[in-house]
Amino acid sequence: MEFNCKGRDSMKTVAVYGLTAGTGKTSVAKEMAGFIHQFGQKTLLVDLDLNKGNITDKLGLNESPNIGSWLIEIIKKMNTSPCWEITYKPEEIQPFIQQHNSGLHVLASNTKKNLDHSPFLLSSLEIIIRSLLKSAFDVVVFDTNSEVRDYTIELILRVDKVLLVVEPFGFSLQNAEMFLRLLVDEGISMDRFGLVFNRFPTFAEDDPQEISRSLGIPLCGVLPNYPNLSEKKNQTKILTTKKSSRFSQELRQVLGKVWGD
Ligand SMILES: Nc1ncnc2c1ncn2[C@@H]1O[C@H](COP(=O)(O)OP(=O)(O)OP(=O)(O)O)[C@@H](O)[C@H]1O
Ligand SMILES: [Mg+2]
Repeated sequence: MEFNCKGRDSMKTVAVYGLTAGTGKTSVAKEMAGFIHQFGQKTLLVDLDLNKGNITDKLGLNESPNIGSWLIEIIKKMNTSPCWEITYKPEEIQPFIQQHNSGLHVLASNTKKNLDHSPFLLSSLEIIIRSLLKSAFDVVVFDTNSEVRDYTIELILRVDKVLLVVEPFGFSLQNAEMFLRLLVDEGISMDRFGLVFNRFPTFAEDDPQEISRSLGIPLCGVLPNYPNLSEKKNQTKILTTKKSSRFSQELRQVLGKVWGD
């Protein structure tokens, strides 16, 4: 099994997003980033869930540096420079980035809890997103939360692909349509979106193909139940390896759909 983002020389970016909490966004983002990394692509995983981001815990990273320390530095710089003049060259990003023991690069979870209410949050995050999109990574995977916030919209507008992770339990088509309408009202077009079912539906009415058709978003894959993902002892590992497990195979399919590989 091989993976590469073939035929392109520029960076690939994907945001893992979701309609509701707990659908598996972080699990999909970390496994996807770790999986791509194994194929020699220089990959960065970014925790953009500023409120409850848990990538640091899930990968057993240090508390700092993290995205919050970078944001604080930018907000300080804004006291003396206009935001459009603040940029970070690839080598200037490095001090904020950690490396997981698999070698995967990670911009770890925010620890500055009051940041979420900062009036400078959107403009400072714009600087981070802009700088990351000009960095030396081949692939950047953003984990997000399920909120429709100004900075989430900013991210979604900037990335190549948005993966909507849904889980069949408690899925409501009506809620999903309302959520998507909110995004469309914000000027976001659905043409870069893909749907990922995390775990197989149990009832016929939850047919992923049907839901994909109803939402007008292509289905990229249905990930199986993978109990190891929720077991504490494995929490700091990337579990998806080149060796085939059903989860790896399906994730590989998702990546193929996302980048037409
Ligand atoms: N395919 C799967 N098989 C088994 N367990 C899974 C699977 N996907 C996710 N989980 C488990 O479900 C729980 C929620 O997953 P996760 O934290 O990735 O969701 P999330 O969408 O990021 O949540 P939040 O909205 O709180 O950020 C975790 O315990 C995770 O280990
Ligand atoms: Mg999460």
